Amino acid sequence: MDPRYHIADTSEIISPALIVFREQLVDNLRRMIAIAGRADRLRPHCKTHKMPAVTRIELEHGIGKHKAATFAEAEMLADAGVQDIFLSYNLVGPNIRRAVEFRRKFPLVALKVQADHTRPIAELGAAMSAAGLTCEVILDLDVGQHRTGVEIGPAAKQLYQQIASTPGLVPAGFHVYDGHQHQKSRDERRAAVLHEWERVLKFRDELVASGLPVPRIVAGGTGSFPIYAELSEPTLELSPGTCVFNDAGYSEHFPDLVFPAAALLLTRVVSRPTADRITLDLGYKAVASDPPVGKRLQLLDLPDAEQILQNEEHLVVRTARANDFQPGDELLALPWHVCPTSALHKQAYVVSQGRVVDRWDVIGRDRWITV
Ligand SMILES: Cc1ncc(COP(=O)(O)O)c(C=O)c1O
Repeated sequence: MDPRYHIADTSEIISPALIVFREQLVDNLRRMIAIAGRADRLRPHCKTHKMPAVTRIELEHGIGKHKAATFAEAEMLADAGVQDIFLSYNLVGPNIRRAVEFRRKFPLVALKVQADHTRPIAELGAAMSAAGLTCEVILDLDVGQHRTGVEIGPAAKQLYQQIASTPGLVPAGFHVYDGHQHQKSRDERRAAVLHEWERVLKFRDELVASGLPVPRIVAGGTGSFPIYAELSEPTLELSPGTCVFNDAGYSEHFPDLVFPAAALLLTRVVSRPTADRITLDLGYKAVASDPPVGKRLQLLDLPDAEQILQNEEHLVVRTARANDFQPGDELLALPWHVCPTSALHKQAYVVSQGRVVDRWDVIGRDRWITV
């Protein structure tokens, strides 16, 4: 048993439970700030935790700029006191109207949204102008993930010009997310990231030379932000998410990055159906199921266990140590992918110095709050 994850009394923890270890969380925030060099170079993505309590700890550490993927996450951030929010998701349908409502409800929040196409830019501009409001818009550049974003080139320049010339909109820079850069070797990852970065800089310089302001470039996730952090570019904002909690997936993908696990799952044995199996109350309603069965988590004290079946409320594992377990016995699990795992829990138990000290709401997991 790793002493950092010892919990003196688990009797009141309803399993399966998400447990946040406060000291490890704060340790990770300090490591992120140390890598960035300064807290105000960071714009962490709240998708990993979705919790006002974590946001407030980030604010206490001087992290004032934040990133979100949904209006619920953005509202969670605003309610927690954040005044500079980048909603890095393309707005379509009712989300255009929600951007107006968000600006009305939180007039002191500098809301930035993302765009990569002419139609939503026009719709957002019309909606903001009609409401007598403005909104900052960040152009999403595709630097190789091919998920969203526009390729660097004349079409991207035209879109940025459109943002700049649309009443109600303010051009606010570029978004450069490179979640596909998963090279295990730091040197190989650096080379790939910097190759794209050079193209982004050249494009930025071209736009600035033509009179367009590009006040910021929001870049990177956990694997790449340490690489951007080495650059002296003053407009860079670094946007890691996962490393706030870290998970088994990133520990394997990025062996160069040492962030202690700050969010684990507490599970209990509910059955021992055969001589070599135990069944845990850790179904896919409690741990993200985007990895394949067998790879969705690591059992800290049962590393040899083979995950052979998972249903909504059950996880069956095969282990030579099955005989050592009885119903009610507890284990801690590290999720492979923590961001969608936190979305599965209404609350997280908070452990500090070995004791459960609080429960934190996972507010941002909802589709909408009020806006
Ligand atoms: C747009 C965007 N920015 C930042 C992040 C954070 O990246 P990571 O989880 O690698 O820290 C993500 C993660 O999915 C993302 O989609």
